[in-house]
Amino acid sequence: MERLAGTRVLLGVSGGIAAYKAALVARLLVGAGATVDTVLTRGAERFIGVTTFEGLTGRPARVEVWEDVASETHVALGRAADVALIYPATAHVLAKLAGGLADDLLTTTLLAATCPVVVAPAMHTEMWQHAATRHNVEVLRGRGVLVVGPDDGVLMGGDSGPGRLVEPDVAVDAVVAALMSAGPAERDLDGVRLLVTAGGTREPIDPVRFLGNRSSGKMGFALAEVAASRGAKVTLVAGPTHLTAPAGVDRIDVVTAQEMYDAVMGRVDEVDVIVKAAAVADFRPSSTATSKLKKDAGVPSIDLVRNPDILADLGAQRGDADRPLLVGFAAETDEVEQAGRDKLARKGADLLVVNDVGASDAGFEVDTNRVLILDRDGTRSEVPLATKGEIAGTILDAVGARLRG
Ligand code: C5P
Repeated sequence: MERLAGTRVLLGVSGGIAAYKAALVARLLVGAGATVDTVLTRGAERFIGVTTFEGLTGRPARVEVWEDVASETHVALGRAADVALIYPATAHVLAKLAGGLADDLLTTTLLAATCPVVVAPAMHTEMWQHAATRHNVEVLRGRGVLVVGPDDGVLMGGDSGPGRLVEPDVAVDAVVAALMSAGPAERDLDGVRLLVTAGGTREPIDPVRFLGNRSSGKMGFALAEVAASRGAKVTLVAGPTHLTAPAGVDRIDVVTAQEMYDAVMGRVDEVDVIVKAAAVADFRPSSTATSKLKKDAGVPSIDLVRNPDILADLGAQRGDADRPLLVGFAAETDEVEQAGRDKLARKGADLLVVNDVGASDAGFEVDTNRVLILDRDGTRSEVPLATKGEIAGTILDAVGARLRG
């Protein structure tokens, strides 16, 4: 979040029912120290009022090109922005941006803006999947626009599917990622082939039950997003999660620890860095029942066997070589640092990120985290409470430093 302090963000709001969530984005941005200029389309104004944004940002929020031209023109607004976020971005706005149209204040301002642009699409599934929208999104991506979401979830009218606007904090994380990728110094991972694992694994007991864990995948997805924005070629091996893969990332979905093992081991020779953010189940049932275990058959006893330890096998297989660079994660509650040091050595990793899972605002499921990064050379760095996007940035700083030797 510190990255936002002192920046000027252009918040574009277009006309979808989810426009009301833009008020929360404005609040998060202002809370992080950004100056926010809000521009609404006329459609957006039917869903949410200018006054809401003026109250939240303490600055004029505008709709019309023809108003206030003496104080701040669209050109001045566009030039002043360090980053622009369109939240929500309707199919219509995406089409206008892709085509370079400028028929209202938002599109005119964006045409005058040279800063990084983030769009958060929101629309019905049919519209999102329409060939025209797909094409427009590809055009925008090709132009360097960061597309965040949409999520797969409940849409207006009770429908469900891809097209749901990402939550405000996810959009703000994307803004931070876009800012971080803006300067040439932040393309420090250009061409680096980075594989990141994310989420938890599920170990089936029978066709309907599994052993799982609380990992949401948020930390691994944040790493994938920030690494991609810094120029890395990212492969994301993901356990079951509702999260949407960041733009430009090659996603491989897996369910069990064994599938994750196969996906990672099969790619060792193709990558420079492996970041093991996933919470891999240490044990699995020794066999999976082919039909559902019946309650009236009594309490079952489930035999467990050990899963392969992917990180430890990577470390052993690599031996004294220095590639791929290996980054592990550890969730600890007691004697955090010593437990982390032991694990770093045992697994043969280069860096170990220790999560403090004892705290309620860090670790599993939440959007913030607080970590300790241990380096095998004996150095350490404490990262205070921050969003997972920011933590990802700090972890990747350490990766970049190690890659450069
Ligand atoms: O031993 P522990 O589970 O605490 O170690 C955590 C680290 O090891 C994480 O980076 C996790 O992804 C990795 N791990 C693994 N395979 C396992 C268990 C953990 O790669 N079976």
